[in-house]
Amino acid sequence: MPLSTALVITDRPMRYLKQLVSHLGHRATTRLRGDGRGTVALGSGTCALAATPDGLSLIAGAADAEGLARVQNVVARHLVRFATQEHLSVDWTAPAAGGDLEILDTVVGDYLLSHCTPPDDVLQELATRTREATGNASRMQVAHDEGALLTMLTRLVDARFAVEVGTFTGYSTLCIARGMADGGSLITCDVSDQWTLIGRPSWERAGVAGRIDLRLGPAVETLRSLPVEPLIDIAFIDADKANYPAYYEETVARLRPGGLVVLDNVFLGGRVFDPAYQEQDHVAVRQLNEFIAGDDRVESVMLPVRDGITLVRKR
Ligand SMILES: C[S@@+](CC[C@H](N)C(=O)[O-])C[C@H]1O[C@@H](n2cnc3c(N)ncnc32)[C@H](O)[C@@H]1O
Repeated sequence: MPLSTALVITDRPMRYLKQLVSHLGHRATTRLRGDGRGTVALGSGTCALAATPDGLSLIAGAADAEGLARVQNVVARHLVRFATQEHLSVDWTAPAAGGDLEILDTVVGDYLLSHCTPPDDVLQELATRTREATGNASRMQVAHDEGALLTMLTRLVDARFAVEVGTFTGYSTLCIARGMADGGSLITCDVSDQWTLIGRPSWERAGVAGRIDLRLGPAVETLRSLPVEPLIDIAFIDADKANYPAYYEETVARLRPGGLVVLDNVFLGGRVFDPAYQEQDHVAVRQLNEFIAGDDRVESVMLPVRDGITLVRKR
């Protein structure tokens, strides 16, 4: 599904947004939200509108290039017509598909990696061993900056009891375990004995193996076997995406007030932004992202860390 964006420079983005939503409401399905955002759904495609400090931000999407051109044309034509007191310029970017979006520029990503606390020998050796032993699958491992963030968040919530869904070779496991206080315990869930075996020597070397309780089996079952009491200080979700809604529910139900759930890969490589992607994983994560934003039990923020993470704090 082609997408295209434009930023219309103006001091009055909200005025134009409201005017567009109201005017096109006669021939299209339009919506105005309380947070300065709106949508226009035309037969040929949709346009998401947002008032920003710099102007009116537009994201157009359609099933094909022809539909996209029609949406771009309708929106631009009306905006230019509404602007009787200023000249508005609507410059659309070249069409891109959600899966092609560059979430993190390579240069920025590299700069981030080299400007956080560096990985020690144990982490570096685990990353190298994972690459050698698992090849392409090693891309599933969290990047070092995300690992450093996990250690910091674990420390910040003073975690005594943590849960991880998706161990792989145990890099993120190690990062969380290291942030825990002495006597803390981390239940980490995976289905693969083969992958988790790779990480265990590193947990020993780092002196945190005693804090880690690896549970092999479907994570939903492991989570459901835990008492429904507010015991979890921090949970990290990084496994099969179709089960994210279940992992979220089971961890939030057991999270203490002030505790954190951290969800990884909430952008799915840009596919969540693009309604053309309708596989089970895409739908599950897209719907969960929507659900969390309106979940009264928690406060949440989505961050462009690597493939997107959501931080959820229980009220
Ligand atoms: C993205 S990897 C986790 C990466 C890990 N957090 C790291 O940083 O190294 C996802 C893991 O989820 C595991 N997994 C997939 N389906 C699962 C399920 N139903 N229950 C538990 N683990 C599962 C896979 O075996 C894989 O090791």
